[in-house]
This record gives sequence, structure tokens and C-alpha cells, in this order.
Amino acid sequence: MSSFIRHRRLRSSEVLRRMVREHHLHVEDLIYPLFVVEGTGIREEVPSMPDVYHFSVDMLDDELQEVTRLGIPSVIVFGVPAEKDEIGSQADCPNGIVQRAIRRIKERFPGLYVIADTCLCQYTSHGHCGIVENGEVLNDPSLERLVSTAVSQARAGADMIAPSNMMDGFVQAIRKGLDEAGFSHVPIMSYAVKYASGFYGPFRDAAHSAPEFGDRRSYQMDPANSREALREAASDVAEGADVLMVKPGLAYLDVIHRVRERFDLPVAAYNVSGEYSMIKAAAKNGWLDEKQVVLETLTAFKRAGADLILTYHAKDAARWLKEDESA
Ligand code: PBG
Repeated sequence: MSSFIRHRRLRSSEVLRRMVREHHLHVEDLIYPLFVVEGTGIREEVPSMPDVYHFSVDMLDDELQEVTRLGIPSVIVFGVPAEKDEIGSQADCPNGIVQRAIRRIKERFPGLYVIADTCLCQYTSHGHCGIVENGEVLNDPSLERLVSTAVSQARAGADMIAPSNMMDGFVQAIRKGLDEAGFSHVPIMSYAVKYASGFYGPFRDAAHSAPEFGDRRSYQMDPANSREALREAASDVAEGADVLMVKPGLAYLDVIHRVRERFDLPVAAYNVSGEYSMIKAAAKNGWLDEKQVVLETLTAFKRAGADLILTYHAKDAARWLKEDESA
């Protein structure tokens, strides 16, 4: 008789490995980001994000048909407007790009759960997420613009509002604004813990939202901090957030885990553009097995404690999950 423990007994066959598996990725966990642009007939690949496209509103149908056929329950919509100005006038325009996209999606795919990203950076000429004065991003004056944007997105039919701007008090302000406009039933998924990260690089190409001057470190969090993440999340909970997001995901699995342990709300992880592009680039070079690495990554978010995952890999992951189920 041996005196050591035989861990390998539980790994001896695929059926047993499946039986004792602790965490599972489900297609229901996935939220698929969409970039919508002005114009017609546009379906253009984002150079730094292979297989991710800019769509004009009229070109969304095929893409969303595929999304729904794969069983992906939800999309998050990012608008790329043609015109920008100091205050991001297009962000809360009833006929703005996101508002039109949301209306179209809800009309054609009423069962698809549509989340609106609420921020100003794609809409402002300076590329910052709020109102700028003398080179400074002002907190309180930005809130008014964000509330108005969230309300216009809800009016267009958004099922959930996801404010990503990192102004203090944005959850409270948006909650109040939505309630007063008759949208008390619309939940808020707060980008509660959002770091000033280098991993957003490809997104800023895709959304044309890189800041014209400076950076976002006066409002997004310092990557070195994790206790601060709990303070950020606690204030969003107190202000009425319904879902807490941590972003980016991969370099912040510890933060996802801590937020999961501390709070009872659903937790979402944003598997951001840079994380996506790294895997895509390596896979294209034959350096990584894309399927294995993507499913491993997404499962890691579940293991860390995320309930929901925003990911550009959603369609591939849904396909692979199906494949493995029927294998
Ligand atoms: C807007 C916003 C950003 C992302 C989502 N919403 C960019 C940023 O803060 O610069 C990044 C998403 C990604 O990298 O995939 N504030």
C-alpha cells in the first residue's frame, strides 16, 4: 500500500473528468460586443482585431442571426459616430448611432438582451470619457451628460445600461435619471472596477476613442491597487448597481475573485480587446491552439468567480461549446 495520495485516479477517463469538473462555461454566460458605425453597407474588419467588424445598422441582421442561432443571449453595443464635439452631442441624440442600432436590434431580434455601453469617449473630440475644461476631466458636469445618454439609450430600447466612464457617483446619478424617466426596471451593470490599462489599445482603434491628450489615469484605476477595487465596488453597490464588472479580466483574476467573495451581486468580467488580439495574433502564427486557449481563458473567469463574461470570442466559444457537447 502506498502512503501517498493518488490524485490521478480522478483524472483517468474523460467521463470521470467531466463528472468531477468544478467549473463550467455556458453559452448563457457570454455577452458579445458589437461596434456600430454610421453609413450603409458597411462590414469592415477592425485591423487590430481579426474577425471583429464595424457594422452599419443595415448590416447587423446577418451577424445577429448568427449570434442568436449560436444561443448567445446578449450583446453590448458600442457606437462609433461620424461627428464628435467637445461635449459628445451625439451620445444622447435620439437619432444617434447607438440609439438607431438598439431600435433596429430590438425590432428584429426582440429576444436578444441588449446592453448599452454608456460613455462619452467615442463621442468627444478630445476622446475623454467626460467634460473637459482647461485640460481637466470634470466629474460632476460629466454626470449630467452621462445620465442623459443612459436615458436616451433606455428610450431606444436598451435592456440594460452599462456605464464605463468611471466618474464618481455615476451609478447614483444614472439610477435616479432612469427612475425619473420611467425606467426603474432597467438594471445597471456598472464598470465598477476599471483599470487604466494598456490592454484597451485595439478597442480604441475600433471605437476611435483614444484620448487626444494625456491619458485616463485621473479616472481609471491604478493597476497596482486591489483594496481600492473593493472601495470602488462598495460605492457602486451602495449607489444601486445591479451587476458589478471588473475590467480588464485576464490580468485581474485576483480582483474578480475578491469582488466575488465580498459582494453578492452578479459579477461580470470584461475580456478586453488586447486580451483578444494577443490570442488571435498568436493563433494566426500557429503559436497557440486557439480553441484550447480561448476556452481555458473563459473558464478561468468562471473559476475566479465571474458569472458573466463580455468577450469578442463569444461566437467562437459558443460554437466550440456546442461541438464539445455533441462530441
Ligand atoms: C469606453 C470603453 C473602453 C472599453 C470599453 N468601454 C475603452 C477605454 O476605457 O479606453 C474597452 C474595451 C476593450 O478594450 O475591449 N470607456
